[in-house]
Amino acid sequence: MNAHTHPYITTGLASSKFGVPISEATRLYRLAATLPGLRADGLGMHIGSQMEDLSPVVEATRGLAHLAAELLAQGVPLQHIDIGGGYPIAYGDTQPDTPSKLAMAIEPILRPLGLLVLTEPGRRLVGAAGALLVRILYQKRNGNHTFIVADGGMNALLRPALYRAQHRLVAVRENTGEVQAQVVGPVCESTDVLSLEETAPDVQPGELLAILDTGAYGFSMASEYNGRPRPAEVLVDGAAARLVRRRQSHEEMMAPEIDP
Ligand SMILES: Cc1ncc(COP(=O)(O)O)c(C=O)c1O
Repeated sequence: MNAHTHPYITTGLASSKFGVPISEATRLYRLAATLPGLRADGLGMHIGSQMEDLSPVVEATRGLAHLAAELLAQGVPLQHIDIGGGYPIAYGDTQPDTPSKLAMAIEPILRPLGLLVLTEPGRRLVGAAGALLVRILYQKRNGNHTFIVADGGMNALLRPALYRAQHRLVAVRENTGEVQAQVVGPVCESTDVLSLEETAPDVQPGELLAILDTGAYGFSMASEYNGRPRPAEVLVDGAAARLVRRRQSHEEMMAPEIDP
């Protein structure tokens, strides 16, 4: 099933490493029934992430429901059906499909089965709740290109480098103009960018820039690459803010190393 999202977050193609081909499922459930240590009482799928158009999920749900009905008719004691995740959030000005639109489309497909319906809404729950704050180190001109170099890059937010994902950038100082420049990180990789766009808020060295919608696949994908400790995490609740994870120190980063 083609999720029509970025190839790196598509999981349901025949060429993907995930799951099993639906054509093999019936044989596997029959096999499971013969194995005393296994109770195969559910059926699940996850065809991809950040699907701005959720119609591939409707189509895949139809296929999964068809299989479930077949298995139930054969006496497989199914209890639940799991339609996976992939609900999109608006990283920019787009208006992606909503979970309620999906729910209305799949309700008539799933209800006749009488099974418990499970779903796995990942980023939809937390994606918009996070922002990464980086401090600008300097602006640099290379030929015709201007780069705004920040103190955090792919080590703190991997999504632009990994998926060519575009997040919204907001200067913390109000009324900052726009400038022809690309915001990049400090890591020694050409893919170490925080934005793919050629315009950016005109943030000056020392100022803070917020990268929005980093609540999912942000800190959890952060690394120590290039000897950079992981960032701190601050919980903001209305006007109150509190540190919930302190910045990693160099000592903590090096601590697991064993002196030969
Ligand atoms: C099996 C499974 N379910 C759900 C999700 C959540 O995906 P998303 O956050 O894109 O909705 C993932 C993410 O990789 C996953 O692998």
